[in-house]
Amino acid sequence: MEYPFEKEAQQERNPNFPIQPFILSRWSPRSMTAESLTDEELLPLFEAARWAPSSYNNQPWRFFYAKRNTPLWPIFFDLLVEPNQVWCKDAAALVCIVSKKLFDHNNKPSKTHSFDTGAAWMAMALEGAARGLVVHGMEGFHWEQATRVLEIPEDYQVEAMAAIGKRGSMDKLPPDLQEREKPSARKKLEEIAVEGKFKAGKPSKVA
Ligand SMILES: Cc1cc2nc3c(=O)[nH]c(=O)nc-3n(C[C@H](O)[C@H](O)[C@H](O)COP(=O)(O)O)c2cc1C
Repeated sequence: MEYPFEKEAQQERNPNFPIQPFILSRWSPRSMTAESLTDEELLPLFEAARWAPSSYNNQPWRFFYAKRNTPLWPIFFDLLVEPNQVWCKDAAALVCIVSKKLFDHNNKPSKTHSFDTGAAWMAMALEGAARGLVVHGMEGFHWEQATRVLEIPEDYQVEAMAAIGKRGSMDKLPPDLQEREKPSARKKLEEIAVEGKFKAGKPSKVA
């Protein structure tokens, strides 16, 4: 099976070791068609997130979303900073990703709720990319406004937003975004994986 973004990923990305193609083929395009998604197209992405691992299987992830052409859409769209609005106007759904800070079983703080919710987000992104959909994470939104407008309670934390949509032609993007519309590179493997202790700026093996 060839994944929808596999060819372009292979052109731009050079892993040190062969890895599963669905991992390399996930990337974050911005060009979308401004078409809607049906629930049959959208909900499987949240289903994928559902199966992520979490500490104590607490499943702290929550996804609040708005579909385009609905009364909720402008409420979510207004949360985005202007540079993200430029391309998110063509998304089919906007998602606010939230995590629960406390364990269900004892109401004590979880140290890994954000980590767990990050895993769920990645499952969603991988599922979407494997289906040829754009799934693009965002830090660029008004965080306090999101917490307030979406009525997120104190024991939950807003983690990020994401845009989901059908992949479109990049001609619709402004020139600066057209230039960036390709799978990106990564830091060197030895910079992120160290056999041994942390040595700031000088990752190396412990002798
Ligand atoms: C949590 C998170 C926040 C991000 N915030 C933004 C954003 O506000 N605007 C944007 O255009 N891209 C945003 N991105 C996309 C990243 O820039 C992108 O994932 C990164 O450059 C790696 O590229 P790739 O996803 O195509 O592999 C975000 C990604 C993540 C995971």
